[in-house]
Amino acid sequence: MSRLVVISNRVALPKDVRAGGLASAMQSALAETGGLWFGWSGRLVDEGERTLQRLGDGRVDFALLDLTREEYARYYLGFSNRTLWPLLHFRPSLLDYSRDDFAGYRSVNRLFAEHVARLLQPGDRVWVHDYHLIPLGAELRALGVDAQIGFFLHIPLPPRELLAILPHHEHVFSALAAYDLVGVQTSADLDALTRYFQVEYGATIADGQAVHLPDGRRFRAAAFPIGIDTGRVARAAERAANGAATRRLVTSLEHRRLAIGVDRLDYSKGLPQRFEAFGRFLSRHEEWRAKVSLLQIAPPSRSDVPEYRELRSRLERIAGATNGRYAEPDWVPIRYVNRSFNQATLAGFYRAADVGLVTPLRDGMNLVAKEFVAAQPADDPGVLVLSSLAGAARELTQAVLINPHDPDDIVDALREALAMPLHDRRERWSAMMDHLRRHDITYWRNTFLDALADT
Ligand code: UDP
Ligand code: G6P
Repeated sequence: MSRLVVISNRVALPKDVRAGGLASAMQSALAETGGLWFGWSGRLVDEGERTLQRLGDGRVDFALLDLTREEYARYYLGFSNRTLWPLLHFRPSLLDYSRDDFAGYRSVNRLFAEHVARLLQPGDRVWVHDYHLIPLGAELRALGVDAQIGFFLHIPLPPRELLAILPHHEHVFSALAAYDLVGVQTSADLDALTRYFQVEYGATIADGQAVHLPDGRRFRAAAFPIGIDTGRVARAAERAANGAATRRLVTSLEHRRLAIGVDRLDYSKGLPQRFEAFGRFLSRHEEWRAKVSLLQIAPPSRSDVPEYRELRSRLERIAGATNGRYAEPDWVPIRYVNRSFNQATLAGFYRAADVGLVTPLRDGMNLVAKEFVAAQPADDPGVLVLSSLAGAARELTQAVLINPHDPDDIVDALREALAMPLHDRRERWSAMMDHLRRHDITYWRNTFLDALADT
């Protein structure tokens, strides 16, 4: 089998405890096949001090490139996370565009391409990931790389009308045509992609998947909803149930019920809405006061971006106000924890919870929703409350689905979840678990790579 070369901005190093769906998914996806994983080292250096570090971890070789502070500011904080991220998450009012950031984005993509091109061997299959690296395929082609190159977008793709808000959007999104295969999370993302190419470039679409441009370029596009390593999460949760961290958590609850949320501290995750709704739940349902807590794990993310810092202060205010209002000497409503945990520990926490609260305002997939389900005990599973605006809602249709913009929807869902009879919980959980077992991370990787081989 030919070597798989994965390229993403963020990589998952063996002992990293860091939140983020792409890195955790690709770590699972590469575990079996092995291959080369190229990405940012996470280090910032001065101009002239850049290194390309090589590391081996079992079957995966890492090639890690440093960024300069200027590149970090323009490519990562700027164009990737203050321009593309809000726009692709349907938040154009948060978009901050600058030509210098765009130039930085393009130059880091070129830089990545130059380094990757030198590492490629004949027969390699190349798989590029996420919004940081949309132009990378075109840069590799410009350097003469003729390998099969696939691209997968982990975050949503909004309709053409939103994409067209981005100044010079054609320079960004038309670069997708350089890939042999472009994968997105859902059929809605796929519709947005094909429609964009039809309207902007007069492309024709054959079989709903083959995009033909008038200038002769063609590529395939398809939806590949990403999965998790379902079996591994289930086993980890079972083991962790008797581990020290889960036992400490369970003991501290003193037989009270637990709702859990696990999200990077990101405005796409709907955390203020979730906290507000939890407060409203306690206000409206006095019978639940001192009977249920919300454990919110929210590791800080992209803290150098102002919108993320503002979110953090806002959440501290809401959590503080809610706790001040409802807490008892021996009970706090919201346990708010700003650090990350490893996935085995999280699996134990999910299993100890009665309700998983996953309420993003928009999310490409949301792996936490899937992990929560996979971690539940078959005989007494908890209930997933899931935003219908997360990609995962298209698969986990037996969750209690809510619209996060309506706080009363979350309040009602919480009450329904906490009171749900066992047979109902079991039925919903079995259906979701069955889906997650059949559509796991291996299935996702294989269907993408098979489709790439067919192009
Ligand atoms: N995660 C983690 N430690 C944490 C919080 C989250 O390892 O403290 C992982 C979590 O298990 C999941 C990923 O980070 O695999 C988050 O992926 P998701 O798709 O839910 O959201 P994203 O962060 O990619 O937007
Ligand atoms: C999302 C994105 C990933 C990103 C992750 C963590 O999952 O789709 O590309 O790696 O968030 O964000 P960070 O900025 O820390 O890499």
